[in-house]
Amino acid sequence: MENRVKPAILPYMIPPSYPAFIAQLEASAHLISALGVLHWDQEVYMPQKGALRRAKMLGYLTGIAHRQFIQLDRGGQLSSLRRWAEKHPNAKEAAVIREVWRAYQREKKLPGAFVRELSELTSQAQMVWARAKGEADFKMFAPYLKRIVDLKKKEAEYVGYQESPYDALLDAYEPELTSAQVSGVFTDLRVFLPKLLKQIRGSSHQPSSSKKFHGSFPLDRQRKFNLFVAGKMGFDLEAGRMDISSHPFTTQFHAEDVRITTRYRETDVMYSLGSTIHEVGHALYEQGLPPEHFGTPLGEALSLGMHESQSRVWENNIGKGRPFWKFFYPKLRKAFPRPFGHMPFEDFYRTLNRVEPSLIRTEADEVTYNLHIILRFEIEKALIEGTLGVKDVRDAWNEKMKSYLGVTVPNDRVGVLQDVHWSGGMIGYFPTYTLGNLYAAQFYRAAKRAMPSLETQFTKGNFVPMREWLRKHIHTHGKYYSADRLVRRVTGEPLQSKYFIGHLKKKYGELYRLK
Ligand code: CO
Repeated sequence: MENRVKPAILPYMIPPSYPAFIAQLEASAHLISALGVLHWDQEVYMPQKGALRRAKMLGYLTGIAHRQFIQLDRGGQLSSLRRWAEKHPNAKEAAVIREVWRAYQREKKLPGAFVRELSELTSQAQMVWARAKGEADFKMFAPYLKRIVDLKKKEAEYVGYQESPYDALLDAYEPELTSAQVSGVFTDLRVFLPKLLKQIRGSSHQPSSSKKFHGSFPLDRQRKFNLFVAGKMGFDLEAGRMDISSHPFTTQFHAEDVRITTRYRETDVMYSLGSTIHEVGHALYEQGLPPEHFGTPLGEALSLGMHESQSRVWENNIGKGRPFWKFFYPKLRKAFPRPFGHMPFEDFYRTLNRVEPSLIRTEADEVTYNLHIILRFEIEKALIEGTLGVKDVRDAWNEKMKSYLGVTVPNDRVGVLQDVHWSGGMIGYFPTYTLGNLYAAQFYRAAKRAMPSLETQFTKGNFVPMREWLRKHIHTHGKYYSADRLVRRVTGEPLQSKYFIGHLKKKYGELYRLK
């Protein structure tokens, strides 16, 4: 797939105002990194009583960051740089200017008071959500969700949109993608997934229940094993940390300080391991961004869908495959002889990949996962378009769980309150998870074609070629290419659902001996 156009290397003069512009971006980025530390601390260490003042602190600092950012064009500097960028579209500097311009266009439409209000509200709402989730009480959270939805509708109006106000929100996470396009890609999955699920459920070759993996796993030993896997994957612990939070996440202050979190269950080592592999995938992207471009779009991840592709390719395409476990399973057996000591490899592999409709998105298998996303996409889109009220969200959720997955939701904790996103104001975010799965399948296929011995290397514990391939083709470019251009450049084709569908057909066809 080398039939691509190389960026022009014609000499050009960088505008004299460019260095000062970069210095401004760096200054903003310092503030944003500091905000990141406060957010991280809020999730990992902050005592409950710190919540209210922390929310105000974050709101205040977010307001400053916003004001700083929208001053970028105060004397018309950004506008004049943009005119230069249009004349030099392939220059690195032009990509920086183009992406800052895009973010600037969005930000300057949002009044400072609005940004502060949203930030304060979501900080508080996250605390309320955590309590409501603990008590499995959607009603406790509903008034906050109502206020968040109202503000997000307002945001869509400020930002502007063509067809659906939801597009204005989606655009913040996956630039240039519309909900009509999302619906299109999702339709393939909506048709295919329930059919495959039905075949799988009907197969007489069912793997053992995942209860087989349960036991008693001391947390310090789990942590040690998680760190071992993270290290093998190439996570640089001298430029990162792993801590605990209720909802695992990755955050970076810059490419040389990337934090991941995981969570543990004493009875189930695979519970934390799966999310650790996922978050390490995200962290490798952040650690792979060029540090010399800190503060500029060339030092930032391309989009959330692209980010998720990096976590998913490790979690699923690699981390649920035979080659990966050919290497790690003997180590797992040694670390946790009970229950794995006497469990044959194939048994382990089949149970690891067992397909079973379940309540929790983050624990869902590869086949059912995207149905969880389709459900959320439909609900949040309807909330923003005003065709569904907050008071009806729980019922809508429970009905869709029943009809898409055949699952009855026993309470709000494992139902509508399970995800942190809405409490953080992240509406328009969920579709990026499914996009990530699709990108991941397409990238992984390209990686295997480029490196035929890739999976043999995995069986020997060598994951370096994979990380380096991702780094070279994806991480190191930051936001230089658009998502669409990058996918074409790496795989020779635009994003398609057929590679993901093909992956599922092949893997689960074999596992469940489907015709
Ligand atoms: Co993720």
